[in-house]
Amino acid sequence: MSEAAAREVVIELQDVRRSFGGHAVLRGVNLEILAGETFTILGGSGSGKSVCLKHMIGLLKPDSGRVRVFGQDITRLPEHRLVPIRQAVSMVFQSAALFDSLSVYENVAYPLREHMRWPEARIAARVRACLSAVGMEGVESMMPAELSGGMRKRVGVARGIALEPRVILYDEPTTGLDPANQQRVGDLIRSLQQTLRITSVVVTHELDLCFSVSDRVALLKSGRIAAIGTAEAMRASDQVDVRAFLDGVRDSIEDEPGGRVSHGR
Ligand SMILES: Nc1ncnc2c1ncn2[C@@H]1O[C@H](COP(=O)(O)OP(=O)(O)O)[C@@H](O)[C@H]1O
Ligand SMILES: [Mg+2]
Repeated sequence: MSEAAAREVVIELQDVRRSFGGHAVLRGVNLEILAGETFTILGGSGSGKSVCLKHMIGLLKPDSGRVRVFGQDITRLPEHRLVPIRQAVSMVFQSAALFDSLSVYENVAYPLREHMRWPEARIAARVRACLSAVGMEGVESMMPAELSGGMRKRVGVARGIALEPRVILYDEPTTGLDPANQQRVGDLIRSLQQTLRITSVVVTHELDLCFSVSDRVALLKSGRIAAIGTAEAMRASDQVDVRAFLDGVRDSIEDEPGGRVSHGR
C-alpha cells in the first residue's frame, strides 16, 4: 500500500493494560490500524488476542490506557454511545455464532432489524447482496445446521457486513475449517478489502491465513506487541520472538502426522 503518510488511523490502542483477577493479560499494548489495510494480530493461544479485539469495540474496558475509534476516545463511553461504533466496526466472532433457530435469511437480517427501521423489501435486498458478497447466493431459507463449517463462517461474515461497516474484526476466522474453506475465507477477507474498501483486523495463530491476507502483522506476546511490520518484513524477520513463533508453529504442524492444525504457543 502506498500513500501511507496520509492514511487515517481508524483504531488506536494506546498503552492499554488489562488484568483479570490479578493476571495481567495486556501489559501496555500500542497499536494503530490504518484505513483500508488488513492488519493481523498473531499470537499463541491465551496470549490475549481476543481480549485485544474486544477492547476495539468497547466490549472490554482497559484498566488504564486509551482506545480511540475514528479519533473518538471510547474508553469511558457508556453502552448506548457505543451503538454507532459497533455499527461501523463489526465483529465476526470465533464460533461464527449463528442463531441456530433462525434461517440464514433471518441471521443476516438480524442486525438490520436491530438497528434499522427498513421495509422488508429493502432488508431482503441487503440480505441478498451480503450473501452474494460472500459467495452464498440462494441459501436464504436454509438453517445453520444444514450448512458446512465453511458456509457457516461465510454466513457469519455476511451478517457482519450487513450494516456496511467500515471495519471488520475477525476472531480466528478459519479455525476448524478444512484447507479449501480456509482459503475461501482468506479470499473473502481480501475481496471485501478490495471491493468495499473495508479495513480488517484479523486475529489468528494460523500463518497461512496471516500471510495470505495481511498488509501488516503484529505479534502479541507477554501482553505486549513484541514485533510489528509489513507481512514481508515479518516473514523475513530475524527477531527472536518472531522466528520462535513462525518456526515453532510450522514445526508443530509438521510434527503431527494427522495434519491437525496446531495451536500456536
Ligand atoms: N472475561 C474474562 N474473564 C477472565 N479472564 C479472561 C476473560 N477473557 C479472557 N481472559 C483470560 O485472558 C487470557 C487471554 O485470553 P484471550 O484473549 O481469549 O486469548 P487468545 O489469544 O487465545 O484469544 C486468558 O488467560 C483468558 O483466560
Ligand atoms: Mg481468542
